[in-house]
Amino acid sequence: MIISQLEDIEKVAKINEGKNLKYSILTMGCQQNENDSEKLSGIIEKMHYTKTENLSESDLIVFNTCCVRENAEDRLFGKLGEVKKYKEEKGTIIAIGGCMMQEKHIVEKLKESYPFFDIVFGTHTLHKFPTDLLEILSNRKRIEDILDIDGEVIEGLPIKRDDNIKASVTIMNGCNNFCSYCIVPYVRGRERSRLPKDILEEIKGLAKDGYKEITLLGQNVNSYLRVEREQNKTFEEYEGVNSFATLLRAINKIDGIERIRFISPHPKDFTDDVIEAIRDCNKVCKLIHLPLQSGSTNVLKVMNRKYTKEQYLNLVEKMRNTIPNVTFSTDIIVGFPGETEEDFVDTLDVVKKVNFEQVYMFIYSRRVGTPGDKMENQIPEEIKHERFNRLKELVESQIAVRNKEYVGTTQTVLIEGKSKTNEQMLTGRTDSNKVVVLEAKEDLIGKMANLKIVSEHMWYLKGKVI
Ligand code: 5AD
Ligand code: SF4
Repeated sequence: MIISQLEDIEKVAKINEGKNLKYSILTMGCQQNENDSEKLSGIIEKMHYTKTENLSESDLIVFNTCCVRENAEDRLFGKLGEVKKYKEEKGTIIAIGGCMMQEKHIVEKLKESYPFFDIVFGTHTLHKFPTDLLEILSNRKRIEDILDIDGEVIEGLPIKRDDNIKASVTIMNGCNNFCSYCIVPYVRGRERSRLPKDILEEIKGLAKDGYKEITLLGQNVNSYLRVEREQNKTFEEYEGVNSFATLLRAINKIDGIERIRFISPHPKDFTDDVIEAIRDCNKVCKLIHLPLQSGSTNVLKVMNRKYTKEQYLNLVEKMRNTIPNVTFSTDIIVGFPGETEEDFVDTLDVVKKVNFEQVYMFIYSRRVGTPGDKMENQIPEEIKHERFNRLKELVESQIAVRNKEYVGTTQTVLIEGKSKTNEQMLTGRTDSNKVVVLEAKEDLIGKMANLKIVSEHMWYLKGKVI
């Protein structure tokens, strides 16, 4: 972390000392954003704010926004309407950060319709939050702290994690792929990877603190260090790590860590060394999240995904032949511009063939500034919804069948805590990320347990300790 920011944390902490101040943080979007919010929380708590879920008692409210789909915008504007009264009543500091703030038209709209905010900050300026806050506390003049150029990878930010068994670790930022529907490359900038040493040290620290499961995060995790290698940039190797495959192998050796997951890889970058590393590393979960987006070669081409339907299916086949017990989950967008009924049937066909463990389904949402938004053959809303429902029906019928197949099997489950809906029960997940609930003593929390699956329900399984 940059020295001046550490100094500013100290300065704000001094101003706030003894005041019993509270903060809330509202996070939208993906796990990367959740991880950023954990960093923001770490910074904010060092400045003597304690967390509350209650917006009305907050002295500082931070929004960490997402812009991948339109509904996140509606949510932000709705919530801003709600917090305006706290600002008026007690001078609550309102800070808005994250991906959406990298979009100029959104910041313009904020200034026009919600001018009561104090700070807007972007994805490249998160670490400067203490400096921005100090400025606000010193002279309450609205701050816009947004950079269009890619930020450097900042190490050493304090972090306040939400969980004490599972942790996510960002391994790379940004994306170079420019899929034609996606806003991410415009708001998160170009790909840049963290150094192997920084990642491995962080994970060793997490293992020491008792964490059992690590999820590696990045917009394109399996191209970890690819840009650096392609551009012959020198970077320090550490414990033999110079690629995603070698990173998996190095993390697999860390004592205490029991499970490794990663999201999201890109099918086009799924090289054999990564497939072999997944096969060889006993801690790497065999559920692979492999975003399909569409099953139609024509649509994939316009989406700029750089693979065909057949290449995707061949990749699945190759992994099935190499990795015992491999399962898949995926992301699918319905209603991309120009998608015909025939194209959509291709998507259904891939879903039938792969039989995914889990499908995250999205209705195409136009994003200003992306090529998809400028395409003329947009699909009418009712057709998008009709296709979405057909896909959902297929997916749910497949999941129901798969759930039945679990009954009677033995599954290794990481027990994560008490069930949220029933205090008497514990909950955990299988390697394939299925939720399992069970009756057992609390001392099982944080441990791996072998469970017999005794019954199935749509969104969870029931297990018994053997
Ligand atoms: N509309 C709908 N879904 C989208 N996604 C990304 N951009 C859009 C968009 N414009 C989905 C993709 C991606 C997931 C994180 O969000 O499926 O994998
Ligand atoms: Fe978006 Fe495609 Fe990059 Fe994923 S790979 S972040 S979908 S542009």
